[in-house]
Amino acid sequence: MGKILSISNQKGGVGKTTTSVNLASSLSYLGKRVLLVDVDHQANATTYLGINRANLDYTVADIFLENANIREIIQQVDSVNVDVIPARYELGNVSQFLLSHDNKDYILSNALEEVREDYDYIIIDCPPSLGVVTINALVASDSVLIPVQCEFLALDGLTQLLNTIRVIQKKQKYNQRSLTIEGVLLTMLDTRSNIGYEVINEVRTYFKEKVFKTVIPRNVKCSVAPSHGLPVTEFSPNSKGSISYKNLAKEMVAISER
Ligand SMILES: Nc1ncnc2c1ncn2[C@@H]1O[C@H](COP(=O)(O)OP(=O)(O)OP(=O)(O)O)[C@@H](O)[C@H]1O
Ligand SMILES: [Mg+2]
Repeated sequence: MGKILSISNQKGGVGKTTTSVNLASSLSYLGKRVLLVDVDHQANATTYLGINRANLDYTVADIFLENANIREIIQQVDSVNVDVIPARYELGNVSQFLLSHDNKDYILSNALEEVREDYDYIIIDCPPSLGVVTINALVASDSVLIPVQCEFLALDGLTQLLNTIRVIQKKQKYNQRSLTIEGVLLTMLDTRSNIGYEVINEVRTYFKEKVFKTVIPRNVKCSVAPSHGLPVTEFSPNSKGSISYKNLAKEMVAISER
């Protein structure tokens, strides 16, 4: 049965989408069956994978609006062996609809249950907020991977996320899941300055063994790859960014098989 993993941090621009896309692609290279779910109305993961949003009949919003079955929404990607539930701007309107829904926190969880057997990993790229869509993602998840950018104020706001995780664990008594922290991932390390290493020490002191050994360096190939609609693992397989995401996938699989 597939493991459901949210990539979440309510802070913006810390590498959630870059991690979702490249972890998904790296896990597929390890022979894992992977579904990537984009639950951000910015739809960056959808774009990063080269999906043309204009041509989509259904998007993730149709899960929340209960307009379509999840299997009708899943797309295949040309460049890499990953299935995707794409997002588009209309996801921005579902919060209003969900306000009056009795079971509003469990919609994604119920939908993913239907396809869970088909995958080894289901990765959910969360938006930079802790609103109802993120709550759906976390309630659906077995674990959360928290990307933290190696910059000043890296830990700012994480207490709120940790408190939210506790609230989610209580909600999960209704869907028999139990959210754990998969790991904290240090991202965008600038190896030329000290501040990044100071942040690494601070994060390791706070989260201890929960921090992945793999650190993602700042690497221009990571920021260029999306404009080609490709994961960096496809766009520049031997770049430092690509190699570190492949290492992260190996580290994650090793932890879960321990
Ligand atoms: N390792 C990296 N090296 C260089 N640039 C990176 C790296 N990781 C991410 N970026 C760039 O940093 C920006 C933010 O990354 P990303 O979109 O993954 O963050 P995010 O947390 O998903 O943002 P948001 O909160 O808006 O969803 C993007 O322009 C991305 O290309
Ligand atoms: Mg994002």
